[in-house]
Amino acid sequence: MTERNISFRYYEVSTLSDLPEDEQKLVERARIMCDRAYAPYSAFYVGAAILLENGQVVEGSNQENGAYPSGLCAERVAAFAASANYPRVAMKKIAISARSNRLEIHEPVSPCGACRQVLLEYESSQDSPMKVLLAKEEGKILVIEGVRDLLPLSFLGNGLKRSV
Ligand code: THU
Repeated sequence: MTERNISFRYYEVSTLSDLPEDEQKLVERARIMCDRAYAPYSAFYVGAAILLENGQVVEGSNQENGAYPSGLCAERVAAFAASANYPRVAMKKIAISARSNRLEIHEPVSPCGACRQVLLEYESSQDSPMKVLLAKEEGKILVIEGVRDLLPLSFLGNGLKRSV
């Protein structure tokens, strides 16, 4: 048996102003989007903003439903909106933030497994990584160079695509 190791590098900045200007704006958009969440069940309000290669910013917020599994995370709302409105335009960066009036949020919000899977497929279909900025209402921000780092040994449905 051979031991193998997977590690990845990520960066931490202590405040928004330590980021380049385009990333500051993207995090600000994600923070604003938290106010547009529909999250009456969890009271956990998440916002996401995706910067596309054409300069457009596409946003999302989490949308819940009384039939719980029918809701969707902010990241997927944003990514699906981006792909639906700007098909095959590369997603360069995504910023995510969260706030709550019921829970204390100590760490920047990090995407769930299903969102990582969805973001990874879009990243894999373009020729550049999608940088990920994890934030909360204020304070430190984590910077990850690509979605691939967030989902090692991932499943990519390439083998499922039919060649006709
Ligand atoms: N949620 C997101 O929108 N994104 C995340 O990264 C974590 C979780 C949502 C799903 C649900 O509406 C609420 O937050 C609580 O899990």
